[in-house]
Amino acid sequence: MTGDAVTLDTLRRPHGSGPVVECRGLTKVYGEGDTAVHALRGVDLVVQPGELLMLVGPSGCGKTTLISIIASVLGGTDGVCRVLGHDILHMPERDKPEFRLRHLGFCFQAFNLNPCLSAAENVAVPLLIGGWRYGRALERSRDLLAQVGLAEKADAMPEQLSGGQQQRVAIARAFAQEPDLIVCDEPTSALDSATGEKVLGLIRDMTHSTHRSVVVVTHDSRIFRFADRIVAMEDGRIVPLAPGAAPPAAQAHAQAAETSTAT
Ligand SMILES: Nc1ncnc2c1ncn2[C@@H]1O[C@H](COP(=O)(O)OP(=O)(O)O)[C@@H](O)[C@H]1O
Ligand SMILES: [Mg+2]
Repeated sequence: MTGDAVTLDTLRRPHGSGPVVECRGLTKVYGEGDTAVHALRGVDLVVQPGELLMLVGPSGCGKTTLISIIASVLGGTDGVCRVLGHDILHMPERDKPEFRLRHLGFCFQAFNLNPCLSAAENVAVPLLIGGWRYGRALERSRDLLAQVGLAEKADAMPEQLSGGQQQRVAIARAFAQEPDLIVCDEPTSALDSATGEKVLGLIRDMTHSTHRSVVVVTHDSRIFRFADRIVAMEDGRIVPLAPGAAPPAAQAHAQAAETSTAT
């Protein structure tokens, strides 16, 4: 298999109408020999434009590994992983920062806010790196913070915000430069259930209103109802979703997607 020829132009190119993510037989082995850990054992996964997909499964089954590869922050071992049409496993390291900046948004369990920057400045970081002027970036950050219900907190420092508020700042930042794909790793794990549901409702609304694709890794069954589709993982593989494990709508979508991608 040969890699795509990646140029700045191809990195900037908006993707066509195909899947946003396409993994086929994706494997990941950490280490080697006796201590090798087979974290992914042949994952097939497709994410379509505009869908909020939840990836669920027990701790250690490979969820973080999978989305880290999709987000191009971790290499895979074998198989295929195409993101927005780009062969991510063979993309040169030097091209990845530009690719991530232009196309991806991140929202992780530890919110990773910069403690020395205000909420608005934290949201503005990806915009400033992307070349926006400071004033315009701050204006957009304030708009985004208003969308997540934090208009009043734009000038607050992270330490002055609750866990739920910090997570909302992280969500605003993930959506800031309108990435094509956003990955969220356990976004509700540090939140109480009411706040967790609010945060997911927000992610879902922003996904649908901006027609972005979002992959949310979680084992929090309270938020399953916010998914368009739920995919289950176990021991490094995608497995059929247990009956009754998801709300009927997401379950129906899961079956339809399995049928349509089975060929
Ligand atoms: N950097 C690493 N080095 C070695 N093993 C790892 C590393 N990261 C994860 N693993 C192992 O890979 C498996 C999958 O981990 P992970 O993707 O974090 O699962 P999950 O997110 O579902 O809890 C686990 O057995 C874990 O211990
Ligand atoms: Mg994890």
